[in-house]
Order: sequence, then structure tokens, then C-alpha cells
Amino acid sequence: MRIDGVEVAVLDGVYPPSEDTFLLIDAIRGVRSGRALEVCCGTGAVGLVAAGGAGSILEIDADPRAVANARLNFERNGLGGRADFAVGDLFACVRGRFDLILMNPPYLPEGEGDAPDMAWSGGPRGRAVIDRFIDGMGGVLEGGGRAFFLQSSLNGEGETARRLARAGLEGRVVIRRGFQFEELAVIEAFHAGSQKD
Ligand SMILES: C[S@@+](CC[C@H](N)C(=O)[O-])C[C@H]1O[C@@H](n2cnc3c(N)ncnc32)[C@H](O)[C@@H]1O
Repeated sequence: MRIDGVEVAVLDGVYPPSEDTFLLIDAIRGVRSGRALEVCCGTGAVGLVAAGGAGSILEIDADPRAVANARLNFERNGLGGRADFAVGDLFACVRGRFDLILMNPPYLPEGEGDAPDMAWSGGPRGRAVIDRFIDGMGGVLEGGGRAFFLQSSLNGEGETARRLARAGLEGRVVIRRGFQFEELAVIEAFHAGSQKD
């Protein structure tokens, strides 16, 4: 499929770009950065759009199939030279700091009897990955940097705001869209007091 001028192939077993992917892309279109990081990258669709305005980007996913898919897409779009790729859990293999961090996580609460899938399952309350992302983000985000991540109304925007505050971060919703059974929002987060507007 073609998204924002980049060609995105989807390999077997990898999360296909969906409404949440497109909402995050809408939120970050035109954002410029030096060193960017995308965790939970899937096909790399979001990172491909961000890479247009970034000096470099590191693409990470816990699923090796997703990382292979992102690498393929960056190479096919002539962006392989400014990207690095790693298989890993969130920030576990990250060194240094980034001025742009992106994440569309698995965020749906697991229902009884569902077979959990790493692509969408955020644990019993949908917060398993988001909470660890918030807790670790301060350590990898540059002083004046910004993170953009996806949040569903199914797993508590208020809880995200409280957790960000406990981590010394602030957040605000930059885009919101309603779907059949949930509302999705993209949260922009940054070190408390580091952004003027
Ligand atoms: C909802 S999909 C989003 C994929 C892509 N970013 C997009 O927007 O289309 C979530 C992705 O997170 C990955 N993932 C799940 N848990 C992870 C973790 N702990 N660390 C890194 N990636 C993870 C999954 O393999 C999947 O590719």
C-alpha cells in the first residue's frame, strides 16, 4: 500500500497499517528531528514517514518478522541509509537519547478466551506496554525532545496522565478520532517544563 508517498509492504504475520497507524502518522506529519526512535515499529510505516524529516531513525520491534519487514520497506524506499534496526523489548537495547520517540503499541485489553497476540494485546487492562513505555521514556528522551504515542479510550487517558506526571513528564492530546468501539488519541509527551506552548 502507498502511504504519504512511501510504499509499504506487509509481510505475513506483521500488523498491517490500520486506523491507529494512520492516526499516529497524521499526528507526526511534518515533525522534524535529529535522532528519532520508533518502538513497536511493525512494518515501519510510521517510521518511514518520520524518516523524511529525521537525521536518523532506529526501528525496534520485539517480533523479528516486523523488524525484517521494516528493514525491507526502508530499503525499498531508499531510506535504508539513515535507519538502524533492532529486535528487542521497548528500550532494552537502546543506547543514548533521542529527540523524537514514536510508538503505536499493542493496547487492547485481552478478553477472556482471546488468544493473546503481541501485535494488539496490551495485557488484562491494555496497559502492559504503555506503562513500561512511560516509565522508561524519560531515560531515553532528550531534554527538549518529544514522544508521540497512541492511546485508546479503553485503557485510560487519565491513568496515562498520572503516570507521565509521576515520571516527571507532561502530556497532551494532539489528535483524537472516534471508531466503532473506542476513541483513539495520540499523546505528545515531553520532560515537564521543557516545551513552551
Ligand atoms: C499495533 S502494532 C503497531 C505496528 C506499527 N507501528 C503500526 O503502527 O502499524 C504493535 C507492534 O508492537 C510490537 N510489540 C509488542 N510488544 C512489544 C514490545 N514489548 N517491545 C517492542 N515491540 C513490541 C508488535 O510486534 C507489533 O509489531
